[in-house]
Amino acid sequence: MGAKVLLVGSGGREHALAWKLRQSPDVDEVIVAPGNAGTAAIARNAPIQPKDIEGLVDLVRREGVDFYLASMDDPQPLGLVDRLHALGVPCYGPTAAAARIEASKAWAKDFMARHGIPTAPYRVFQRYEDAKAYLESRGDRPVVVKASGLAAGKGAIVCNGLRDALEALDIIMVRRDFGAAGDTVVIEERLHGWETSAHAFCDGRTARLMPFATDYKRAQDGDKGLNTGGMGAYSPSLRVDDALARAIQERVVDPAVAGLAEEGAPFVGTLFPGLMVTEEGPYVLEFNARWGDPETQVILPRLESDLFTICRLAAEGRLEEADIHWSSKAAVGVVIASGGYPATYKIGYIVQGLEKVDPDILVFHAGTALDRRGIVTNGGRVLTVVALGDTVAEARRRAYENVARISFSDAYYRRDIAAEAAEPSTQEGRR
Ligand code: AMP
Ligand code: GLY
Repeated sequence: MGAKVLLVGSGGREHALAWKLRQSPDVDEVIVAPGNAGTAAIARNAPIQPKDIEGLVDLVRREGVDFYLASMDDPQPLGLVDRLHALGVPCYGPTAAAARIEASKAWAKDFMARHGIPTAPYRVFQRYEDAKAYLESRGDRPVVVKASGLAAGKGAIVCNGLRDALEALDIIMVRRDFGAAGDTVVIEERLHGWETSAHAFCDGRTARLMPFATDYKRAQDGDKGLNTGGMGAYSPSLRVDDALARAIQERVVDPAVAGLAEEGAPFVGTLFPGLMVTEEGPYVLEFNARWGDPETQVILPRLESDLFTICRLAAEGRLEEADIHWSSKAAVGVVIASGGYPATYKIGYIVQGLEKVDPDILVFHAGTALDRRGIVTNGGRVLTVVALGDTVAEARRRAYENVARISFSDAYYRRDIAAEAAEPSTQEGRR
């Protein structure tokens, strides 16, 4: 008998993970809580929200779930993995103690300092007056002011001078736009360079990097508009070569995994550092203790090995034994969003044209639901359309060809996903 695996979330990331898990001969069933219309078609949705730990633990007991694969940030800091361990259910995901590396930026900065992991110089404050006095003492030097807690990726404010910085502090600590996430602030030096991120499978002691993916965070073409969860991604990344990948492994990922183990909070799961590559090499902007969305949607289609086996071995501390093979093909994923996202948008529009998509194209659902009219929009990011190709250029062409066949009222997508990497000659030697 194969395993019954639980995923928590309702994004394109969870649909992609469910799709990949379903290919494993050792997986009988995937349950997604709460899931979306895409996961409903290949797995079973359970109407339980990610922060409802009691509800999730009940579900695991009731259904006899054999394995939990953590993908989104919410459940782990609330102790879901700890609770499941107590029930004897193996998990690929961090305990609450290990998840502090994402859930508390203040804790993560102190952790990096303890272990010599490169990150911007910083100070942590609990009191508004102290933070304000510190900013005033530094004058116009450029800083970034961050709410320490989880703030849906929006809690970091990049400032140009003292006026900006005081305003950012006001937003976080006085207006409390991020709620309790802003009880503690981190003020750090602003770094200069270019941004990338990494994903690594971790088993508590060892880490193995996945291929790199480049994400497009801004809403509009040319990296304009508001920050979003991500409007598209491609892999391999044009900008990460072998030397940089090695530096990220040796200076960031390995010391983080070793440091957490040494401190009694071994990290099992996917570690996803956000990095600034400066003239002195990679610096950590933040650690995520989860999978990226939409990065996951372009990384997993390139995985030729069995995802469940890798995660099961990692949960047992035996990642070295895992066969992890990646396709040399490129993947490009374009997010189709509701007009207005990431600010206000409408939902409930019928999604048309899904049946016109070529059979080898992957359409991962995020904000979708099924009602009597069929599949309707139900969120900001609605679908990620992913194509594989021998080159980024080919994958990109095929992704956009298929995106054009799907429609709903107010749909919008960026036209420049992977454009920078679409020259066939730029792909050689990329990770
Ligand atoms: P974070 O949530 O900490 O990853 O920050 C969100 C975004 O703010 C990053 O993706 C960067 O664009 C920017 N950022 C954060 N920290 C810094 C820093 N020290 N220097 C420059 N930009 C930063
Ligand atoms: N795409 C960025 C993230 O998942 O945080």
